[in-house]
Amino acid sequence: MGKNNADAVLSQFTQAIEEEAVDTSRKLKVGIIGTGWIAESHIQSYKNMPDVEIVAAADLIPGKAEAFMKKFGVEGVRFYPSHKEMIDSEELDAVSVCTYNTAHCAPTVYALEHGINVLLEKPFSVTTEEAVEMMRAEKKSGKVLSIGFQPRGDENMQMIKKVVQSGVLGDIYYIQTGGGRRRGIPNSTFIEKSTGGIGALGDIGCYSLDVVLNAIGYPKPLTVTGYKSDFFGKNPKYATPDKFHTAEENAARFSVDDFAAAFVRLEGGIILDFRISWAMHADTPGDTIIFGKEGALRIPSTDCWNGTFTSPMTLYHDVAGKQVETVIPLIPHRGPGLFDIKIRSFLDAIKYNRPAPVPTSEILYNQAIIDHICKSAELGHEIKVEIPEI
Ligand SMILES: NC(=O)c1ccc[n+]([C@@H]2O[C@H](COP(=O)([O-])OP(=O)(O)OC[C@H]3O[C@@H](n4cnc5c(N)ncnc54)[C@H](O)[C@@H]3O)[C@@H](O)[C@H]2O)c1
Repeated sequence: MGKNNADAVLSQFTQAIEEEAVDTSRKLKVGIIGTGWIAESHIQSYKNMPDVEIVAAADLIPGKAEAFMKKFGVEGVRFYPSHKEMIDSEELDAVSVCTYNTAHCAPTVYALEHGINVLLEKPFSVTTEEAVEMMRAEKKSGKVLSIGFQPRGDENMQMIKKVVQSGVLGDIYYIQTGGGRRRGIPNSTFIEKSTGGIGALGDIGCYSLDVVLNAIGYPKPLTVTGYKSDFFGKNPKYATPDKFHTAEENAARFSVDDFAAAFVRLEGGIILDFRISWAMHADTPGDTIIFGKEGALRIPSTDCWNGTFTSPMTLYHDVAGKQVETVIPLIPHRGPGLFDIKIRSFLDAIKYNRPAPVPTSEILYNQAIIDHICKSAELGHEIKVEIPEI
């Protein structure tokens, strides 16, 4: 059998397993809160799930949710002007909260208080306090609250954790992570404080942090020295136009970070050295490297840095007294897409009483680091990480 034939047979087999595993005897009623850009990925994945009925959608902008469902050919949906009216009127099993960052907390808390499971888009929130408020509602409700980090479904990301946990690196003592784009400010609702709340930090920084913190088991952050800047977003020379605004208008709207860096002390004596960028005069602020007492793992930076992997990782270690490098090849993605994996694992957590696939207990630390970078940057010195009791 030729390689292509073998691949085709294998991918059909993978598909068949996924489809067979779905129990359609119980359909889950799902609503979408916020029908903007990312909601498109949610709706496409929900449509692929045979045990889901999309019954409701809400958006603050009149007519937006209706046009959205029409675009995706979903019929029989009821529409609402905000999350409140939708939750008050519907009997839902689950909602996807796809609102901009500053509107993550209120719909999530309201849904959990009404006994509805929530898949919340990343980043968790803007502040630590909001994350804590959502976790308190989660705890009280006993429902699933999962955060939308789809790179967790990527085998390359899973490989990083496997390498660390295999012990080949020995004890980890220092990690440099981050990445970003030479130019790549997303505009839209991402660039205003009132909607995005945080910029590159929340958009792509949360992924960079998750790649390494997930690998080392999410130790608690203890102190943070943070820095952030906005030299590109605020400059009409570097700002970019979009469908609704000129470059000058976007520069005037820009009120979040386009670059951030931090020195973070984690529990267990591990140091995290972090940089993230939406725009800069270089193509990368550095690769991700995990330094252990017995080896180091280099994960090449990508120009996009949204949790994608584009080239092989290298393991540096000593074998029989010789310094060697082992290349860990990129694992090509097979089977369902990352968004389908994200949605399926959330639905299965609800149906089979499993823990949230991306638990808040982990992402709380991710969010606390981001929030404390902002606080430290404003104060201009190192600060202790304060996280209220859940
Ligand atoms: N996982 C990913 O790969 C990924 C990619 C892009 C964006 N995101 C995240 O998704 C979120 C949304 O981003 P976007 O680009 O889709 O934003 P967007 O601005 O395009 O859409 C958000 C929508 O939410 C609506 N909204 C706000 N508050 C609401 C409320 N209370 N009730 C109902 N509707 C409400 C807005 O009117 C808007 O239409 C952000 O947090 C972003 O970080 C994730």
